[in-house]
Amino acid sequence: MAILGSSALKSDSSKKPTQTIGFIEDADTEAVLRQVFEQLRLPSNDVMKGGVKQAISYLKDNRSPNFLLIDVSNSEMPLSDVNALAEVCEPGVKVIVIGERNDIGLFRDLMGLGVTDYLVKPMNQDLLQRSMTAAIEGQSSNRGKARTGKVVTFYGARGGVGTTTLLANLGFILSEKIGRRVVLLDLDLTCGDLGLMMGVDSVRGMSEALRTPGRIDARFLERSLSACGQRLFALATEEPYNEKIEIATAAMDELVENLEQQFHYILVDLPRRLDDAGVQLLSAAETRFIVVEPSLASVRDTIRLLDMIGKDRIGQRTLVVMNHREGNSKGAITEAMFEESVGRKVDFVLPFSKTAMSALNAGVAISSKPGPLTDALNVIADDLSGRAANSSSTWRKLFKKG
Ligand SMILES: Nc1ncnc2c1ncn2[C@@H]1O[C@H](COP(=O)(O)OP(=O)(O)OP(=O)(O)O)[C@@H](O)[C@H]1O
Ligand SMILES: [Mg+2]
Repeated sequence: MAILGSSALKSDSSKKPTQTIGFIEDADTEAVLRQVFEQLRLPSNDVMKGGVKQAISYLKDNRSPNFLLIDVSNSEMPLSDVNALAEVCEPGVKVIVIGERNDIGLFRDLMGLGVTDYLVKPMNQDLLQRSMTAAIEGQSSNRGKARTGKVVTFYGARGGVGTTTLLANLGFILSEKIGRRVVLLDLDLTCGDLGLMMGVDSVRGMSEALRTPGRIDARFLERSLSACGQRLFALATEEPYNEKIEIATAAMDELVENLEQQFHYILVDLPRRLDDAGVQLLSAAETRFIVVEPSLASVRDTIRLLDMIGKDRIGQRTLVVMNHREGNSKGAITEAMFEESVGRKVDFVLPFSKTAMSALNAGVAISSKPGPLTDALNVIADDLSGRAANSSSTWRKLFKKG
């Protein structure tokens, strides 16, 4: 939850956060906050009455400020409350927690959650000013723990297996049903059909920005992101077929660093032909989906693909999703045969849905309509967001393998 991450600071020459909000329980602390905001000349700031619960309800309906100060004095379980706050707060936000307990254990645990600093009441003007200045300058002791969004890549073992369908629908569920901020990124700059599927315009200047490091910052994103919902955004472009696009890996770093500050999930649709930037994203991703179909050709391509992307590093997962994109079983092989031939398990199975096609053509996400395919997509979204651990419903067992 390191608010203004380093990249956001770079793009703001004044190094000042653009919006600061405090949720404070008592008048004395509020007065100190207001004085310090004034001294630091913070451009847009506000102090609201309340604590972590009020902050959570505010953040559910509003964009996160760059800087948050949260009073946990009235919170019985500050750690779990701050954890709940992290779920609604954009990842790039810097959070200073203010409390009454002078407890080193609590301090350490809060730092572990990505909080920038923990200050104990009674609030001291000097201390608050020093803590805020360090956070603004990016010199807080907890710099290394910055919380950022998760990169999730999607790659089809073959063309047409339903990769974009899976990605778009997971984006819909994670944002609309689970409340996370999600961006869908189509890295196929010439032939990608994510934009078409989501009904968004092609971004002008995206390939130019990806070719030339130094162009992508928060302002570029503000201009380029297309809203597909309150918390769902897409970045897609349709460059001419004959355009030669060489994405600079440094520009890709900039793009991802900026997106990671604003979104909980960055879902990347990878093109069939991977360039260096695509390979770099695959190796950096926290979760890598491989979408397959139940066919012999898919077995062959999955073996080659798994070989190419290599073993997962610590904390990384590669998940195989078998999509029954075609209703008939002609030429299909069973999951057991697939698993045996490939030498690894299929993690999730998506059933065929007659309405999948018409739902998308009508611009409606499949997952907004009930049915077995929606159930299966919900299981995957729960797994991604960590909610699966709390769920034991029978439909979960049906679609999650192993
Ligand atoms: N489970 C399913 N049941 C029925 N139809 C499906 C299913 N999954 C995907 N489809 C349909 O299959 C078609 C191809 O899907 P999609 O475009 O997502 O594939 P893709 O792998 O991204 O293709 P490409 O390689 O061209 O990018 C779409 O018309 C989609 O609606
Ligand atoms: Mg696709």
